[in-house]
Amino acid sequence: MHTELTGNIQHISNKDNCTLIKTANAEARVWVYSPTIIRVNISRGFNANDHSFAVVQQPDKNVSYDESPDEVCIHTGQLELRITKSPLRFNFYTPDGILLNGDDERFGTLWQGDNVTSYRKLFKDERFIGLGEKTGDLDRRGSNYVNWNTDAVDYGPKTDPLYKTFPFFIGLHSNLTYGFFLDNTHRSFFDFGASTDHIMYWLGAAGGDMNYYFFGAQGVANIIQDYTWLTGCMEMPPLWSLGYQQCRWSYMSAAEVLDIAKTFRKHKIPADVMYCDIDYMDGFKIFTWDKKTFADPKALLDELKSMGFRLVTIVDPGIKIEEGYQQYDEGISNNYFATYPDGENYIGEVWPGRCHFPDFFDKEVREWWGRSFSALTQPGVEGFWNDMNEPAAWGQNVPNIVKFGEHYMPEVRNAYGMQMSRATYNGTKHLLNGKRPFVLTRAAYSGIQRYSAVWTGDNTANDAHMLLGCRLVNSLGISGVSFTGVDIGGFSGNPTPELMVRWNSIGVYMPMFRNHAMMGTIMREPWRWGKQNQRIIKKDIELRYQLLPYIYSSFYQSHQTGLPISRTLAIEHPFDLHVYDADHQNQFMFGDNMLVAPAESLQRTIKVYLPPGEWYRLGTDKKLNGGKIIKADAPLTDLPVFIKAGAIIPLQSVVQSTNEPGDGILQLHIWNGRQATEFVYYEDDGLTYSYEQGAYYKRTICFDPKKRQVSLSAVEGNFTSRFNQAKVVWHGFGDAKGKAIALADGEVVVSY
Ligand code: NOJ
Repeated sequence: MHTELTGNIQHISNKDNCTLIKTANAEARVWVYSPTIIRVNISRGFNANDHSFAVVQQPDKNVSYDESPDEVCIHTGQLELRITKSPLRFNFYTPDGILLNGDDERFGTLWQGDNVTSYRKLFKDERFIGLGEKTGDLDRRGSNYVNWNTDAVDYGPKTDPLYKTFPFFIGLHSNLTYGFFLDNTHRSFFDFGASTDHIMYWLGAAGGDMNYYFFGAQGVANIIQDYTWLTGCMEMPPLWSLGYQQCRWSYMSAAEVLDIAKTFRKHKIPADVMYCDIDYMDGFKIFTWDKKTFADPKALLDELKSMGFRLVTIVDPGIKIEEGYQQYDEGISNNYFATYPDGENYIGEVWPGRCHFPDFFDKEVREWWGRSFSALTQPGVEGFWNDMNEPAAWGQNVPNIVKFGEHYMPEVRNAYGMQMSRATYNGTKHLLNGKRPFVLTRAAYSGIQRYSAVWTGDNTANDAHMLLGCRLVNSLGISGVSFTGVDIGGFSGNPTPELMVRWNSIGVYMPMFRNHAMMGTIMREPWRWGKQNQRIIKKDIELRYQLLPYIYSSFYQSHQTGLPISRTLAIEHPFDLHVYDADHQNQFMFGDNMLVAPAESLQRTIKVYLPPGEWYRLGTDKKLNGGKIIKADAPLTDLPVFIKAGAIIPLQSVVQSTNEPGDGILQLHIWNGRQATEFVYYEDDGLTYSYEQGAYYKRTICFDPKKRQVSLSAVEGNFTSRFNQAKVVWHGFGDAKGKAIALADGEVVVSY
């Protein structure tokens, strides 16, 4: 196979906002997006169609470079790119000249056939985190991965690839951090020193350009913030979607959906969301309802609403080939489906039998798809679950010659699910007329957070999957996706009661809290596990509802900054080796203040690494010193969760759904600590976009141990809080007692 090296620089110039470099075999372009973000595109030919599905920002207008006989240098003040001329190599430095990352001197970027690969320097102590939904360890060093969105039926703790593509990772070495985003939707590959000696790692794609964004900010959180600035942050989700969600493949009739919903209310187990999996449809035809079993969707939705429930319905991309079926007829007459090169529509088989697949890369198709949701929104559906959008057809592989407009399948497969979610989000947002839709997707590409929440597909009912789920969610968080979840209980197989109880208790601390199970498995609802387990599950779900003011404020933080809600400890402690230890790599922070240490279903004590500082056990208020590994009790009734000293956590009383107003008292739980701390409390109507016009309620809560007080800054925004009283609840303050006080809009100070 011919191997093509990029060669030496022959010509260099600046055009508009881009530095253009030519060699005999390639052309490289460099743009500065911000002082900490530089984009490099190395191409064998100028690619006029320079489109990104992920990036929403534009490069800086002005760029300049310094040139010496050997080098071209681009400085931003916070990052320096030195480009050597012979041969062409790109190396990134800190402003004081320390190498962050760069090309392997011998090989740099090269082509073999259409494959483009970048060989990069590897440091001895280097670790890697990220790549989104990838199995394996938190530290990706010594592993390799492929991105090729796949219906990963029966995946295990090492299976690769899964459903989604996030070609973004963070490198950590010598107390330095950098980020790297290969924005290329072809099949891509990453080998973090798995197959080489310890001086080089390599990454690339099966086609397209070596098109990457390099992030030079110091600190993992800063890099995540830069990455989500580049690819967009999520909007505020509907508050109801943060409540407990009950799903199953499938509740087979409207009567069964209602029966389950009523049983939640009967047992006083809080819940907000019921799901309809594929069997609500007429013959699996998307945007239809089964005429017998779901005869009156509006009546179903109305009754659910009267009980404080929302409904989420599934949609798959495959449109059944059947004349007279509206979406089929419209798709055919407007040429909306993927084709073979001769123009014939591609046919693949999925649930409905023979199907065509919409070309979501076409704006007109996306708009048509979006409009079709009226069949669901009219009766009152507000949540839309996008499944099978890798795309999945029986046999997995869509032939390489299938075309989506101008793109052949291998060029854009990894972005198909994202474009479907984009169409779903934009369409339903429009149809819901001011209300926030909840969109959930299985397949995704970088930037998906702008349109949808994600879940990690078809996991299995065992301990290894429960722990893997924590790592998947945490890794998705590193890759800009905050609204994430796993099938609590495990999709396939049957959990033991202990596993169900434990997994549910971990689900409390996942951004999305959804119980889901496969057809043919035992029923999973909270009351199926015996009285005692039911009590524990109920208590944990109640805790989720109590935590909602904290969770919603954490979503606001993520909406503003891109920081995840469930966070690997590597974000705050990237150079602390304990964090990567097999015993501790599943631990995570939930928001700023809660450390969750997942225990297996049968473990009754576990080893927990508490990072430096002081901590309190949530269940007992026992104070513990960090900076060490402790042994923690892990009964099924009390998942090991630890609170940072100085934490401010707003809670509310238990409600049965987010629809209920509650008792109007905001409980401000404070855990004593030596340092002054702050927490930004945020609230809005949880339902519409009026927060974008200032209809929110925001105040900074401060705990100051020197002044012995807790204060709330004056209210920002013009939304009236659900809470008219606040009550400080003191932890670790001896016998300090709280009483409810009126929550005035001006500054409020509570002393102790
Ligand atoms: C596959 C999805 O991953 C699963 O969650 C769903 O229940 C089935 N498809 C049936 O729709």
